[in-house]
Amino acid sequence: MMAAVADDVTVTELTPEFSFTDVSVRFGSFVAMGPATLEVRQREFLVIIGPSGCGKSTLLNLAAGTLQTRTGSVLHRGAPLRGINHDVGYITQKNYCLPWRTVEANVRLPLEFRRWPAAKIKLRAAAAIAQVGLTGFENAYPKQLSGGMLQRVLIARTLAYNPSTYLLDEPFGSLDAQLRMHMHRELMRLWQTTASTFVFVTHDLHEAITLADRVVVMSGRPGRIKLIVDIDIPRPRDVVDIQSDPRFGAYFKTLWTALSDD
Ligand SMILES: Nc1ncnc2c1ncn2[C@@H]1O[C@H](COP(=O)(O)OP(=O)(O)OP(=O)(O)O)[C@@H](O)[C@H]1O
Ligand SMILES: [Mg+2]
Repeated sequence: MMAAVADDVTVTELTPEFSFTDVSVRFGSFVAMGPATLEVRQREFLVIIGPSGCGKSTLLNLAAGTLQTRTGSVLHRGAPLRGINHDVGYITQKNYCLPWRTVEANVRLPLEFRRWPAAKIKLRAAAAIAQVGLTGFENAYPKQLSGGMLQRVLIARTLAYNPSTYLLDEPFGSLDAQLRMHMHRELMRLWQTTASTFVFVTHDLHEAITLADRVVVMSGRPGRIKLIVDIDIPRPRDVVDIQSDPRFGAYFKTLWTALSDD
């Protein structure tokens, strides 16, 4: 399958979703990240871990095009990334639902920004709400929802416009352990039903191993790519059973050691 994304670029299935080459970010004289070189493969579930302040959110900001100041090169599907990247759906650490809008109106928001026709908006919003299991709550307001439901509204809001990449920055950080596992199950199901690439940042090693095809470990600030671990556990994965898989323990130890000796 081939598709043209820019005049001079042909995208094949082998073209990385993102290529970061020798990328560094500075704020004044302060080096926040890098130099880092990393390829994100199309359709993979890539998880990024690393100490607080090492530059994980900064890396996602580069992919989303919300941060332009850097040295090195960032390619999206083979083309240099300039300006805001409208092909990504970004759920940041600070995302929230608009309290004065219903669930449905929150999900419609990005579609309205895109000036889609009303009939298409209605269809896509309903489909996205159904996909995250919130049918019946279309007219509820955020204050009437649980933490997990709010998180699902944010996912539906992104899902509705079907981005080629989901950037997820610690999306389940505030949820209790049980709800978090429930969300893992839903997210894996979602990933399997879309053709999208997922880049997911977390501090939680269980979460990383459960979800990932590959886990990227960043070093302490300024973050560089310290280790990449292939998580060779077959899918579909069960969020409970996977924890008793002997490979799970081995991966946990490898990642823990890589994080600890910084
Ligand atoms: N706009 C900015 N201006 C100045 N410094 C910044 C800015 N954004 C980030 N930084 C700094 O860059 C470094 C990397 O920040 P970043 O938010 O990417 O870290 P992180 O790995 O996501 O951390 P956490 O795990 O705590 O979310 C930090 O030291 C942070 O203080
Ligand atoms: Mg962060």
